[in-house]
Amino acid sequence: MQNIKLQRTTAPKEKPNEDKLGFGQIFTDHMYIMDYDEGRGWHDPRIVPYGPLSLDPSAMVFHYAQEMFEGLKAYHTGDGRVLLFRPDRNAQRAENSCKRLCIPPVPQEDFINAIKTVVSVDRDWIPTKPGTSLYIRPFIIATDNHLGVHPSLSYKFLVILSPSGAYYASGLDPVKIWIEDDYVRAVRGGIGEAKAGGNYAASLKAQEKSDAEGYAQVLWLDGVERKYIEEVGSMNIFFKIAGKVVTPKLNGSILPGVTRASCLDLCRHWGLEVEERRISVEELVSAARDGSLDECFGSGTAAVISPVGVLRFGDEVMEISGGGIGPLSQRLYDTVTGIQTGRIEDEFGWTVEV
Ligand code: COI
Repeated sequence: MQNIKLQRTTAPKEKPNEDKLGFGQIFTDHMYIMDYDEGRGWHDPRIVPYGPLSLDPSAMVFHYAQEMFEGLKAYHTGDGRVLLFRPDRNAQRAENSCKRLCIPPVPQEDFINAIKTVVSVDRDWIPTKPGTSLYIRPFIIATDNHLGVHPSLSYKFLVILSPSGAYYASGLDPVKIWIEDDYVRAVRGGIGEAKAGGNYAASLKAQEKSDAEGYAQVLWLDGVERKYIEEVGSMNIFFKIAGKVVTPKLNGSILPGVTRASCLDLCRHWGLEVEERRISVEELVSAARDGSLDECFGSGTAAVISPVGVLRFGDEVMEISGGGIGPLSQRLYDTVTGIQTGRIEDEFGWTVEV
């Protein structure tokens, strides 16, 4: 594991009001950077004062979007500890995303050490109010100054930190979701299962359309048949249909969420019947019509568990759980956040102390 140099800021910023954090708008005093060059590999890991980067306008990330990112959170416990939630899963997924995007992966132990070190330097920035956390954004960008289309030979890996509240302004209140049947997010064989900025750029057009209709997010259908439910983009999606917990099976174009995996583990542990399979939009509409669609919720690092109160597909507006928070969504939210913040015993060994 590489040694990380620390250059502390001489101008610490004022800490934000924890009642007004929003999501991803405020950044801490420091950031982590490491460089990659062909021949030297990943080198010079350091923590420096948070600030702008200087990049050549021809840097490849600006032109061909060769970049990947991750998202995880650090939480204060009531007894003075700081916990990360399953950072090994993020390190593994980062490696998979790097391989798909021809980026040399950061060794997993350096990835986790970078996160732990920068979080401990900015430990005072972790908010303590219920529902808040320190959102951690690791990312890698291609920095070769060249307009030819090929994998870059140089990169930067950074970790920035943002004290954040709920991802949706509505908090745990149910969100309205728009099922999109025109634009698609990702196709099989593409980069849908990598955490790559390009997937999010591809989502913006439909997001604009759903915003205009008063919906919080878009639920994507598969890019081949435009028939099967995939994911929301900022979160994976779950349904409770006729008493069974159902979520789309990973198929190469869906992001393998860490919170998704944790919800599946918890539901199985509780003895619930769980199915990972293809779910057609027709099945969903008919379950909503015959009353067997009991619940719907999203799962994600930023969103945690986000109950869905309304799903709209074309002219069909489906109200779920009476527009309120369903019992499974509430139980998962309470358990996941309880483990993350140390309030509930972590019998799965998911949390890592910083
Ligand atoms: C996350 O949940 O960490 C995400 O990356 C979703 C998002 C804010 C793009």
